[in-house]
Amino acid sequence: MTPTHQYNASIVRREDLHAGLAMLWIAPDTGEFAPFLPGQFVAVGRIEATPAGERALVKRSYSIGSSANERASVQLFVVHVDDGEFTSWLFEQRVGARVWLAPKASGGFTLHGFERGKNLVLVSTGTGVAPYVSMYRTYRNDPPWERIVIINGVRFAADLGFREELESAAADDSHFVYLPTTTREASGSPWIGLRGRVNDVMEPQQFRTRAGFELVPSQCHVYICGNPAMIEDVEAMVVARGFKKHTPGHPGTLHMEKYWTD
Ligand SMILES: Cc1cc2nc3c(=O)[nH]c(=O)nc-3n(C[C@H](O)[C@H](O)[C@H](O)COP(=O)(O)OP(=O)(O)OC[C@H]3O[C@@H](n4cnc5c(N)ncnc54)[C@H](O)[C@@H]3O)c2cc1C
Ligand SMILES: NC(=O)c1ccc[n+]([C@@H]2O[C@H](COP(=O)([O-])OP(=O)(O)OC[C@H]3O[C@@H](n4cnc5c(N)ncnc54)[C@H](OP(=O)(O)O)[C@@H]3O)[C@@H](O)[C@H]2O)c1
Repeated sequence: MTPTHQYNASIVRREDLHAGLAMLWIAPDTGEFAPFLPGQFVAVGRIEATPAGERALVKRSYSIGSSANERASVQLFVVHVDDGEFTSWLFEQRVGARVWLAPKASGGFTLHGFERGKNLVLVSTGTGVAPYVSMYRTYRNDPPWERIVIINGVRFAADLGFREELESAAADDSHFVYLPTTTREASGSPWIGLRGRVNDVMEPQQFRTRAGFELVPSQCHVYICGNPAMIEDVEAMVVARGFKKHTPGHPGTLHMEKYWTD
């Protein structure tokens, strides 16, 4: 075995929402993860021995959900993709298990480029809510936003990560609106919240009623994260309303993070 890759971190806490969805806290052996910006992701990996006797690193990216002010570990929100190569292994790992953790976070899906004083509209499906939780946790005591809305579309209410924390924050913070919506809850189920895809919540009248402001680029920036088909649909919807994609060279009001490609 070549010494190229070494495990350098451990799972220090794990909370399962159900059999296919978990919160994981991963702590680097150094004691502190490198400074990062809320919205960024980190790679997590498993080291495999190849038939040639080398160490191969199988790694995947995960958005950081924890506050950028707490770096003893990073909190990740992970769904077990059916037959997924990496998540099938990761879901077998318990507290104490060794993993590889990238030494620093990456990505430009951050509030860099957000114009202070505007409203933030953070749209997600599934685990795509995690980067928004990091943003809210990090900045809530000195927010750059006027109002912040987190929309999270999931199949079932049991898939809603951070639900209690976000419900409680929304009850306490008049500048924060949390809009979870489910697509597959049976009609007689205990779920009494919104139903339908995130696109429905983005319809102008419904959005204005629930968020308290207009979905227009003069008032807000839109972030979209998660399922790529959802991102394409919501992107088309907001581009038609005048939002322009943000890139480092061309500041805009629309920011996107696709978790996979179709
Ligand atoms: C920037 C970035 C951030 C990410 N953050 C997260 C995160 O916070 N939480 C998380 O669970 N995943 C996240 N992902 C996805 C993650 O990197 C892996 O792709 C995922 O865990 C599947 O790995 P796998 O080896 O089990 O599946 P593979 O065997 O590699 O299969 C990949 C397939 O699984 C499906 N898939 C991948 N990710 C998801 C997902 N999240 N939800 C539904 N279907 C999916 C797609 O069909 C994809 O083609 C992120 C990806 C990127 C690029
Ligand atoms: N092991 C388990 O218990 C378990 C359970 C569920 C899922 N999984 C696995 O986890 C993976 C991810 O499932 P997930 O539910 O987290 O993610 P997902 O399949 O991306 O679904 C999350 C939400 O996105 C919605 N959506 C899909 N396409 C959309 C679009 N074009 N526009 C707007 N909304 C859209 C879905 O609505 P619709 O319902 O209308 O599609 C759903 O409400 C699955 O592929 C599966 O492999 C495992």
